[in-house]
Amino acid sequence: MKIAILASGRGSNMQAIVRAQQSGKIKGEIICVLSDKPTAAALDFAREQGIHTEVLMAADYENRAAYDKALVARLKELGAELVVLAGFMRLLSADFIDAFPERVINIHPALLPAFPGLHAQRQALEYGVKVSGCTVHFVDSGMDSGAIIAQAVVPVLPDDTEDSLAARILEQEHQLYPRVIADFADGKISLKGRTVYKD
Ligand code: GRF
Repeated sequence: MKIAILASGRGSNMQAIVRAQQSGKIKGEIICVLSDKPTAAALDFAREQGIHTEVLMAADYENRAAYDKALVARLKELGAELVVLAGFMRLLSADFIDAFPERVINIHPALLPAFPGLHAQRQALEYGVKVSGCTVHFVDSGMDSGAIIAQAVVPVLPDDTEDSLAARILEQEHQLYPRVIADFADGKISLKGRTVYKD
């Protein structure tokens, strides 16, 4: 399976995925790490590992539709079969999703459908939940609203700060995301309606 990873920032999930691929846990090929931010640390790591990188900046396109069209074209040219969002900070249009049906996934640092969008850990602390975690889900054109593939749970502790909770969740993200991608590459994940099946 040819995997493209899209990342806008530090890229710790991307690193975990690359490591899992290098160690043979993910039976697929990482064909590209693509970013909308030329300064993303994710790109530095990918380059060090000899992975092909690309940058597509929003400022170079007239609008979202034009950007997404270019992104689809590039990913198709590269032969992407699975598009993995790992801290990619752009909402993707329905046209993008339709170009890769059931082949775009994301990780979110909360137990969806609770706390979608930005600052999920802060939202969880402010709400006062006692557990939180992370969710890997299919991407649709809404905000973190696609079908849920897998979740991992962590406790929220009384003295947690946004940073301490984020760090506890991130540890789980680094295990959960590579695992889901490995299952994908093994052809174990399928979707009917909103229900995700794993063989
Ligand atoms: C993670 O918390 C992920 O859940 C969210 O964005 C963050 C990306 O972190 N979607 P990193 O760039 O993978 O370190």
